[in-house]
Amino acid sequence: MYYLPTRIIYGQNAVKKGFVYINQLGQKALIVTGKNSAKKSGALDDVTSILDSLKIDYEIFDRIDENPVLEIVIEGVQVFIENQCDFLIGIGGGSPIDAAKAISLAAANNLDINHIYDTASFKNRFPLVAIPTTAGTGTEATQYSVLTDAAKQKKAGFGHDLAFPTLSLVDPGYTLSLSREVTLNTSIDALSHLLEGIYSNKRTPLIYPLIFKGIDLIIKHLPKVLNKLTDIEGRDALMRASLYGGITISHTSTTLQHSIGYPLTSVYNIPHGLANGIVMKQMMSLYYPFVKAELDELFTYLGISRQNFYDWLDTLGMKTDTKLSTDFIETKIPEVLASRNMANNPFEIKAEDVRSLYRSLS
Ligand SMILES: [Fe+2]
Repeated sequence: MYYLPTRIIYGQNAVKKGFVYINQLGQKALIVTGKNSAKKSGALDDVTSILDSLKIDYEIFDRIDENPVLEIVIEGVQVFIENQCDFLIGIGGGSPIDAAKAISLAAANNLDINHIYDTASFKNRFPLVAIPTTAGTGTEATQYSVLTDAAKQKKAGFGHDLAFPTLSLVDPGYTLSLSREVTLNTSIDALSHLLEGIYSNKRTPLIYPLIFKGIDLIIKHLPKVLNKLTDIEGRDALMRASLYGGITISHTSTTLQHSIGYPLTSVYNIPHGLANGIVMKQMMSLYYPFVKAELDELFTYLGISRQNFYDWLDTLGMKTDTKLSTDFIETKIPEVLASRNMANNPFEIKAEDVRSLYRSLS
């Protein structure tokens, strides 16, 4: 099965090329962004000048930070309704786009803060344009929205077909202003998504061409981009890999790799991609016996061994100084085991698996 109801325009000047489609979406846009990246990348200026030229009114809601909380989503809903908006444009890393998805659904279905995850109530949505400014989450091609429940110190989200963006405008030029650290962490998030497309028991050979090519692009281009952040050819490769990663998890969902990373972000503030990266080798070793044929096919395609891949990961220097407390590990084991991605694993994950993965970091 292959399903992707999002129109994607990819490449330089994607926003300008998307104007015909933006024009069909509504009369007033709520632009959902963070404080900086939409401005710094140039994406916000591109969007507002297109809207001005189309004579489409807009309101800017720029209160989204790295891990958007439910309260901010509800604030966005109020701004959307008060200003009589009828479509949304999410610009930024994954967070503003994920928040825009949640605002669209909560506003269209009259959901309050306690029902944002209540997918059974999703009957309508407002059209959404996604414009990524990082190359990592792939949210421009997924039906997922990852949010943070601050009260429960928990990252969670929802997935629903109505959360797919209507239109995604993907311009690798917007990633040229990213720092080395953000570039590394977001690329490793994309790499996680691609690998999880193999780990998941929803894996499908229909997606393998995207997965294999995406991983190849990251291995070849990430080190070059980390050395020269303005390498546009490399930025293009990483952006495509991220998009392929999004398309991948839209079909396969994520796995233990993501479940184990979420508590590291919500409790210790470890960036999402880094949280995936620091357990990536251990994770692959854990899955390898269950998806040996698929991973062997991948490494044949890449022309490297699994050990070469582990060595390559080591050269990236991903690490954290955070020491995980025993209390954290024991509290989070049941949470990880109860997370919705667990159903996607090709084998039963035991408490001891999670414990030893976390212990390998302490
Ligand atoms: Fe991710």
